[in-house]
Amino acid sequence: MTIMIDNKMEKIVSLAKRRGFFYPGSDLYGGLANTYDYGPMGTELLRNIKNLWWKTFVTKRADMVGIDASIISHHKIWEASGHVAGFADALVDCKSCRLRIRADHLIEDWLESQDLEDLIGKDIKMESLSEKSLEYHLRNKKVEGLSLEQLNEFIQAFNIPCPNCKTKPRDKDNWTKVRKFNQLFPVQLGLVEGEGGAGYLRGETAQGMFVNFQNVLNSTRVRLPFGIAQIGKSFRNEITPGNSIFRTIEFEQGEIEYFFDDKKTSWESLFEGWKKEMYDFVTKKLGTSEENLRWRPHSDEERSFYSKRTEDLEYDFPFGYKELWGLAYRTNYDLTQHQESSKKDLTFTDHMSGEKILPHVIEPAVGLNRLMLMVLCDAYEEIGERLVLKFKPSLAPVKVAVFPLVANKEEITGKAREIYEGLKDLVEGKVQWDDRGNIGKRYLAQDEIGTPFCITIDYQTLEDNSVTVRHRDTTEQERVGVDSLNTYINSKLH
Ligand code: GAP
Repeated sequence: MTIMIDNKMEKIVSLAKRRGFFYPGSDLYGGLANTYDYGPMGTELLRNIKNLWWKTFVTKRADMVGIDASIISHHKIWEASGHVAGFADALVDCKSCRLRIRADHLIEDWLESQDLEDLIGKDIKMESLSEKSLEYHLRNKKVEGLSLEQLNEFIQAFNIPCPNCKTKPRDKDNWTKVRKFNQLFPVQLGLVEGEGGAGYLRGETAQGMFVNFQNVLNSTRVRLPFGIAQIGKSFRNEITPGNSIFRTIEFEQGEIEYFFDDKKTSWESLFEGWKKEMYDFVTKKLGTSEENLRWRPHSDEERSFYSKRTEDLEYDFPFGYKELWGLAYRTNYDLTQHQESSKKDLTFTDHMSGEKILPHVIEPAVGLNRLMLMVLCDAYEEIGERLVLKFKPSLAPVKVAVFPLVANKEEITGKAREIYEGLKDLVEGKVQWDDRGNIGKRYLAQDEIGTPFCITIDYQTLEDNSVTVRHRDTTEQERVGVDSLNTYINSKLH
């Protein structure tokens, strides 16, 4: 079972490289851990997902505005937000093979490989964790929210081996103590060494929305409740290798801070409303199968202290259910922190009552690269000899491929070029020309990048001005008149 599942991920990663979705970062120089470069197909796919996200949550909504804040930002932002003090992973090193790994990943991956009844049956007691909490973590196979001491004791109590060299803690006192490692990347600013100020590459796009809250209020006509959205790169010094593009040190986030007056609007109903928006986006706009999705509420221990409720929308990746999109009610923690730290007034003045409010916020936060990996996993199918990416047509990197039946007959290639040029201008998306190899091979290559339609120009085209349209999912073919081709294709792209 596991072999098959692992295999699917390997196949997707290999397809991604072979067909230009993504490559290991700095590949030419042997790679740089946890970085990826996006190739021609991946760039189109990611862009389509981003455009759809922006259109859905910003362009088409009257209560949302977008910003694009700087990636390099003042150290005070990250001190006020709590990231400098608290944005840290708990790491542990294997003394035998020197593997450095996140303690929560070490434990959770090990828990995943264990039978639940066996774990409970061991009847292990921990000093730092109550029996009830321990059972909760074992049943959920999650350890988020545990302290360093609790993680340490967990590893020792269950004698968790190193996943690389298999040495067990009790064999050799194998693991170092679990310790914190801050994920923010500092940047030294200024031209003269030693004279610059410290900045950080942002660890989340969210802070851009909080620190620009007053700027947006002063420069637009927004009224509560309203949201500020942003798509952009974030950076985290991730140590554990992260299942290809699932977890990387540089990634793109799509985040919304939805501000509201907690005395006038119920946070519970807003929270439920956003759950529906997120779910609809993933299932209806991205076409993801519902059976691969689930909601997971965070436990009290796992949730950040300022959050009143957090739930993750999880997707069943080939390596198990993992967080795709988080939804958190962050109260007015961030605005309070920045108001105190900057000594500037960050309140919103109610235009009717004149009352000054420090709004609360609900935050849907997603990784766009993670959405792309989900789209790839969900679209991947092996049908006999064919390997097909069944993307929703609106997401496909290439919408239409145009093939002249033969490459050496001027009447055919000339007509095909004419049709290609026409479609290129009129189809909503990328149109690709391909005259290499036999038609069967060209179909297979297009299936592997998920092109929904392939058009072949043949001898009949010269007689009746019709072409063959071949459908990716069914491989069915039909004749369509050239004059109606672009309307026909565009009508099927949504
Ligand atoms: N502002 C809240 C915040 O950033 P988060 O759960 O740390 O919350 C939000 O991140 C989303 O960003 C996650 O659900 C995930 O999709 C994505 N994400 C986080 N870290 C990532 C990483 N290292 N690589 C890729 N995506 C990541």
